[in-house]
Amino acid sequence: MGSGIAQTAICSGYTVTLNDQRQEALERAKAGIEKALQREVEKGRMTEEDCAAALARLSIDAGMAAGKDADLVIEAIYENLDAKQAVFRRLEEVCPAHTIFASNTSSISLTALASATKRPDRVVGMHFFSPVPKMRLCEVIFGLLTAQDVLDQIKEVGEKMGKTLILSDDKPGFIVNRALLPMLNEACVIVGLHVGTVEDVDNGMKLGCNHPMGPLELADMIGLDILLNVMMVLSKEYGEKYHPSMILRKMVTAGFLGRKSGAGFYLYENGKKVGVNPVLTREHTLAER
Ligand SMILES: NC(=O)c1ccc[n+]([C@@H]2O[C@H](COP(=O)([O-])OP(=O)(O)OC[C@H]3O[C@@H](n4cnc5c(N)ncnc54)[C@H](O)[C@@H]3O)[C@@H](O)[C@H]2O)c1
Repeated sequence: MGSGIAQTAICSGYTVTLNDQRQEALERAKAGIEKALQREVEKGRMTEEDCAAALARLSIDAGMAAGKDADLVIEAIYENLDAKQAVFRRLEEVCPAHTIFASNTSSISLTALASATKRPDRVVGMHFFSPVPKMRLCEVIFGLLTAQDVLDQIKEVGEKMGKTLILSDDKPGFIVNRALLPMLNEACVIVGLHVGTVEDVDNGMKLGCNHPMGPLELADMIGLDILLNVMMVLSKEYGEKYHPSMILRKMVTAGFLGRKSGAGFYLYENGKKVGVNPVLTREHTLAER
């Protein structure tokens, strides 16, 4: 997500320092951005000059020193409250007082993240969607103490990055995941109860509701473990309605995590879907003696 955000920002005229604690992740991200922009040039969607200018605005750094000149930091490390708070505490030591601390968190409370800083009014959520350069949405989340001038500045930045912004209060799931994940979970329930097959559920939502991907394909892409974790967070807050389905819990327990593990509702070979996971269609009998 960090590299997608950086790519979109440099293409929108911003000067960006991409930070990661692992140097190899930074080099991989930089090479990925260069390749993606080169492809834009080849397809005629970007000029050579714009590509060179955008790449000149990107630097990578495994240290935090660049924070001293930052007007905005967008944190996108892994989804863990303590780790994210630790990053904000370190940034607090280098960034000037006006720097806005944004987080790309999908589920963590912005008010909780802000509580680790001395600037809770300058902490805000900027929830981008994957792949960032292509997905048009940025969900903006305000914590209990987020200042209005911070929201105004985030609106300007988000729009300059070509995104449509929506605004959410700091409640688990925000807007998109709160609406989307119960639908994915219910698709799992339908398959688990054998109301319909995996392919029929996906075709139903693609062809009947014009969704670009079926809910089970999407669940596999997100990762069934991630879906389960977020459903548990939502069910803790909102109760029964968000209870993760039994089949989802079983799939994760059995190690079927979706595309990244090679099997979820579908099987994958070299990242390509090759069929429905046979464990979902197996007929069980007791062998005749
Ligand atoms: N993947 C998605 O589709 C998606 C969509 C929206 C939001 N998000 C959110 O974005 C964030 C990142 O997700 P991701 O999928 O890109 O994760 P990822 O694991 O692919 O990348 C996280 C990166 O953070 C680096 N990192 C970890 N700890 C660090 C630290 N202390 N300092 C500096 N770098 C550190 C890791 O080395 C890694 O390169 C999470 O909060 C996630 O919930 C993800």
